[in-house]
Amino acid sequence: MPIPSIIAIDGPAASGKSTLGLILAQELGYLFFDTGVMYRAVTWVVLQRHIPVTEEKIITALAEEIQVAVSPASVNDGRTSDILVEDQDVTWETRYPEVEANVSVISAYPGVRRALSAQQRRIGQRGRIVMVGRDIGTVVLPEADLKIFLDASVEERARRRFKELRQRGEPAEYKAILASMRERDRIDSTRQVAPLRPAADAIILNSDHLDADQVVQKVKGMLK
Ligand code: CDP
Repeated sequence: MPIPSIIAIDGPAASGKSTLGLILAQELGYLFFDTGVMYRAVTWVVLQRHIPVTEEKIITALAEEIQVAVSPASVNDGRTSDILVEDQDVTWETRYPEVEANVSVISAYPGVRRALSAQQRRIGQRGRIVMVGRDIGTVVLPEADLKIFLDASVEERARRRFKELRQRGEPAEYKAILASMRERDRIDSTRQVAPLRPAADAIILNSDHLDADQVVQKVKGMLK
């Protein structure tokens, strides 16, 4: 296939979407855009301001008004992008367990999705982009030239997230990660608007028995 201008990568938590997306973007000289960080940033602000996560109206208004800026990583500390909320760097804060525990509830609100996916669509339409998320191939950029749905068993994904946290020196407990991931998967795939599911024309890739490099090689093989 000719080199696609818009590449959409979707899949459940910790399936390796960001790793694959970042490497592909670097090799192609494309912009890498991880949409999950926008939902995480809104969740961080909600928690910071002590807004109850059940306050759909207030949270929707907040998602419409706050400025979340996502740009290529400016610091070499393991981050894949810089995330700024009104000029404050919240890159690592968005990875906190309390954000992780609440992000799926907030990202199920239709108004929140409308606000954030409109911004994502505008960025994606410029092309030369690898966009990663849950609904990129189905809703944000259904015209994407290549759609990958990266999957893996929940146990394998929890193991990967556990390793990642340990490597960053953060406290991590496998059982708690597994439970939180199951819950997030459940909410993400059963919500009314833009549920997590492969687009009809997506290529489904299971990475249970593939390491990051093997996944990259498989996808690069599709581009020949
Ligand atoms: O890195 P990980 O796969 O754990 O999560 P993420 O991609 O940062 O996404 C965090 C959460 O944001 C997901 O569990 C979804 O609830 C939500 N999300 C979404 O609804 N739509 C997207 N396009 C991306 C993320």
